[in-house]
Amino acid sequence: MRILVTGASGWIGSTSVKELIAAGHHVLGLARSDESAAKIAELGAEVVRGSLDDLASLRGAAAQAEGVVHLGYNHDFSQMAAAAQTDRAAIDTFADVLQGTGGPLLVAGGTLGLAAGRMGNEADMPGAQSDPRTANAAYTLGLPERGIRSMVVRFAPTVHGAGGDHGFVAVLARIAREKGVSGYIGEGRNRWPAVHRLDAGKLVQLAIDKATPGSVLHAVAEEGVATRDIATALGQFLSVSVESIPADHAQAHFDWMSMFFAADAPASSARTRSLLGWEPTHGTLLEDIAAGHYPGH
Ligand SMILES: NC(=O)c1ccc[n+]([C@@H]2O[C@H](COP(=O)([O-])OP(=O)(O)OC[C@H]3O[C@@H](n4cnc5c(N)ncnc54)[C@H](OP(=O)(O)O)[C@@H]3O)[C@@H](O)[C@H]2O)c1
Repeated sequence: MRILVTGASGWIGSTSVKELIAAGHHVLGLARSDESAAKIAELGAEVVRGSLDDLASLRGAAAQAEGVVHLGYNHDFSQMAAAAQTDRAAIDTFADVLQGTGGPLLVAGGTLGLAAGRMGNEADMPGAQSDPRTANAAYTLGLPERGIRSMVVRFAPTVHGAGGDHGFVAVLARIAREKGVSGYIGEGRNRWPAVHRLDAGKLVQLAIDKATPGSVLHAVAEEGVATRDIATALGQFLSVSVESIPADHAQAHFDWMSMFFAADAPASSARTRSLLGWEPTHGTLLEDIAAGHYPGH
């Protein structure tokens, strides 16, 4: 199948492109710069120039494909509302092109905020009003009625791997290095799900090949790694002390990260594994921290 991948030059997108090509798909990777175009060509995909901010370019790119994997996203925290709006417009554009074809449209989401203090699963549907990105996921799941095989893949909040991502664990490592303390909040029993980047890419390919319309899929390999264990692994690698940070000092120690690191957000992927036959095979988050993929600079 001819598949357009947005975010093809990104952390999850690049590995997804490789898996899709290995499974026999012809991948068109959206590139907004020469640098991204070079990365995408290196992966073996056809480069299509365009930007999420230019809907005509997205329409033209999608018209050359039979399905879309939408992983591109503006992660600038200072532009969260605008980023979600751009995302919605992109999803809408892809839906217009794929309408009535039965072609796949895979949209990325996350597992954070699914279910406070208990194991979230694929059947959990946080209210669309809870935040604009969740609303985009809910919108995507309504698209089968327009003849689109739409699906949402919710990624664990940490998608780790060699080279290190720039997400939450990288931020924790930087804070630990700067403060000389690798902290966890309170007893550090709250849990944080994780998935290896290579397993996430495999899941994207399986979803494109097998998922039924309106599926919610969880890219989660480890349901919940205790935050104390994450802090301990970082402290050991960075050779700094590992300490409990009282909840009322968490904001001062972790800044904006405190809200996320305090969350107990375990998530299951049992349904996804059984639907797609997906079995994560790559290393764990703690192994990647111990291997030095999160040096904190
Ligand atoms: N990584 C995680 O831990 C995680 C967890 C939960 C959910 N997710 C979601 O999964 C998806 C993929 O994440 P990721 O970690 O692979 O992201 P990433 O590494 O930050 O990559 C983002 C991609 O989006 C592209 N992009 C950004 N703005 C664009 C624009 N205006 N026009 C065209 N392309 C644009 C980037 O292109 P350039 O190369 O040109 O910058 C890059 O390819 C995202 O939707 C993300 O929110 C990720």
